[in-house]
Amino acid sequence: MDYNSILRKIKVELSAQKYQGEVASYIPELLSVSPDKFGMHLCCLHSGTYGFGDHEEQFSIQSISKVFGLTFAMSLMGDRLFQRVDVEPSGDAFNSLTLLEYENGIPRNPFINSGALLVSDVLTSYLENPKEDFLKFIHEITGDDTIQINKAVFESEKTHGDRNMALLHLMKSFGNIKNDVDRVLELYIYQCSITMSCQQLAKAFAVFANKGVTLDGKKILSPVHTKRVNAIMQTCGFYDEAGEFSFRVGLPGKSGVGGGIVAVHPGQYAVSVWSPPLNPKGNSELGMYALERLTSLTESSIF
Ligand code: DON
Repeated sequence: MDYNSILRKIKVELSAQKYQGEVASYIPELLSVSPDKFGMHLCCLHSGTYGFGDHEEQFSIQSISKVFGLTFAMSLMGDRLFQRVDVEPSGDAFNSLTLLEYENGIPRNPFINSGALLVSDVLTSYLENPKEDFLKFIHEITGDDTIQINKAVFESEKTHGDRNMALLHLMKSFGNIKNDVDRVLELYIYQCSITMSCQQLAKAFAVFANKGVTLDGKKILSPVHTKRVNAIMQTCGFYDEAGEFSFRVGLPGKSGVGGGIVAVHPGQYAVSVWSPPLNPKGNSELGMYALERLTSLTESSIF
């Protein structure tokens, strides 16, 4: 496959593409990023890496971190995690409270905010120093110990965390949050404020294309648990747009309100895109376009 010429074609097509979406503003610090940034990086398991645009520039990974949180929690407690969080698509906005009330404080899946907060609660119970240990896990999965958080984004979200706090209190009222809600929220916001580039994200997500093993040969998850993470990305990675992402792109993936998306072609590659303007469902508009073009031009998806 001539990935160089395919990415060149996508780059040309993108330059003619106008976006209508807007950069996320409910975490004020995210607004400081230029809407015109665009990066794309493809990390193949057997045939090299390719990238263009702002693919080496770091940005706030936001909800993409939920995949790392889930992976970390599964590596610690395996399938027992799913006694406290379900694996069904929600068809609802990422920060919705409504289903939680009907479903007795059990989040529909680990990628909506309630589910990721639940995972943060699990990690808070298991880890001695949750924030430091989370960052160490990111260093392990990326093979890069320079990765840090963006402190301004962290502080910005801390002062705008009312909705996530409401989700935590609701789950705690059902007995499904075991720790102090402030500590759990702190870890969740910390993981969301990690900054990574498309290049670093694609390399990290190569683990999910490679049956749970990093490109440096380190085993992070079993093949069975890797299957589960990919399945949850496929059905729940884009909230109430998971069907649309499957329909257009046809790969498991995860988005974040920082404008990043990562997708995985098991056995072949991981690919990451970054473009801050979001569509009304909170997913990167041009990012989805670029990934749709990638799987169409390569005539290859998981379907
Ligand atoms: O909790 C929040 O609202 C943000 N820290 C993350 C949300 C997010 O990235 C949703 N994904 N597209």
